[in-house]
Amino acid sequence: MKIAPKPNPTAFRRYSSLAQDKSLSHRSVIFSFLTSGECEIQDFLRAEDTNSTLQIAKVLGASVREEGQKLLLTPPSQIVSKAQILCNNAGTAMRLYAGLLASREGGVYEFVGDESLSKRPMDRIKTPLERLGAKLSSSYAPFTLYPNKLRGIHFHSPVASAQVKGAFILASLFAQTPSSFSEPELSRDHSERFLSSLGAEILIQNKMLHIAPLKKPLSPYSFVIPNDPSSVIFFVIACLIGKNLQAEFENVLLNPTRIEAFEVLKKMGANLSYEIRSERIEPVGIVRVASSSLVGVKVEKNIAWLIDEIPALSIAFACARGVSEARGAKELKVKESNRINSIVSNLKALGIEACELEDGLRVQGGEFRSAKLKSFGDHRIAMSFALVGMKKEIELEGSECIEISFPRFFEFLSEYVEVVNGS
Ligand code: S3P
Repeated sequence: MKIAPKPNPTAFRRYSSLAQDKSLSHRSVIFSFLTSGECEIQDFLRAEDTNSTLQIAKVLGASVREEGQKLLLTPPSQIVSKAQILCNNAGTAMRLYAGLLASREGGVYEFVGDESLSKRPMDRIKTPLERLGAKLSSSYAPFTLYPNKLRGIHFHSPVASAQVKGAFILASLFAQTPSSFSEPELSRDHSERFLSSLGAEILIQNKMLHIAPLKKPLSPYSFVIPNDPSSVIFFVIACLIGKNLQAEFENVLLNPTRIEAFEVLKKMGANLSYEIRSERIEPVGIVRVASSSLVGVKVEKNIAWLIDEIPALSIAFACARGVSEARGAKELKVKESNRINSIVSNLKALGIEACELEDGLRVQGGEFRSAKLKSFGDHRIAMSFALVGMKKEIELEGSECIEISFPRFFEFLSEYVEVVNGS
């Protein structure tokens, strides 16, 4: 696919529905298994990753009805006891379903992922789930989960990971005794927010989560999924690096553990503001942005809160005056691709001075030259480097992986660029 600058890009754009939040879409389906009746999900993200989660729910016996933009999910009276859990590219589905199913004694679940997911570490859930009492046959997918009666433990996760935390909470809610959980820094807090709002006893004391076993099923819920800040970021950066552009994004998830990239952009000189408009379980609001000249920045704090945005931020780094760095970001190496490597190799192809660091990357702002870029099969890498097309004609190989989280991406991006060849 060739992507080139457009002579007259849309100068002002208001977005109300862009791409719904992926983390919340996964959770809104998986958590319905903990309830006693029909849950209503409005604006569920229709993308490959979240479709995998929905498909698994059906395989496990949930009944799923669709009414326009609404999904109606009723958990089965008994979860199917033997099943293949096909996660495709979705790490959140694999790790959270493993947590949900770890306590289903007598069950046998075979977890399968695509090539990328099969390379991602599952020891991070194997260790805590086995200490609780379950068994996983391998530290990588494919693996078989042998559930068991679980007993509460304290677990300190060596990585700040919301997927590990979510898996641990889901398993602990069905253990026979209480559990506690800590992590090196706070990872996104959707699981604890959502589940405690439904009545689960999950207390946070001195950065430690205390999880009491469920005494009864949770109440069915009705939940509206807002826009995903990790998808909004691409259009925020498009607007920032373009000339005389302005945009307004409505209905964006503004959870503090998800918007650190906006803070980084502000430090870089971005004309960007956001404002919370409502708060029901999660804060949701509006983001405004206008083209700005950016300066380099050093990012080393709250990394877990912007880890998914580093690929997009690397484009802002390349367009900024001076040097930028992201440190403390080793986790980038075990995402959908080794993102430190994917980012640096594409930036170098574009003639930008960039280097891999042991725990992150360094980028010297500069001018792009035309280049052939790779997606590395990684949706966030593909979308980040598609933005370069606003400045220089590029060729992007393997953009179909964008379907994983943001199927309408090019529909929106084509207001800013010409997609010369391909879809
Ligand atoms: C996610 C958590 C993060 C994030 C991923 C989605 C989630 O991963 O990178 O895209 O929905 O819980 P980790 O939990 O592995 O850090």
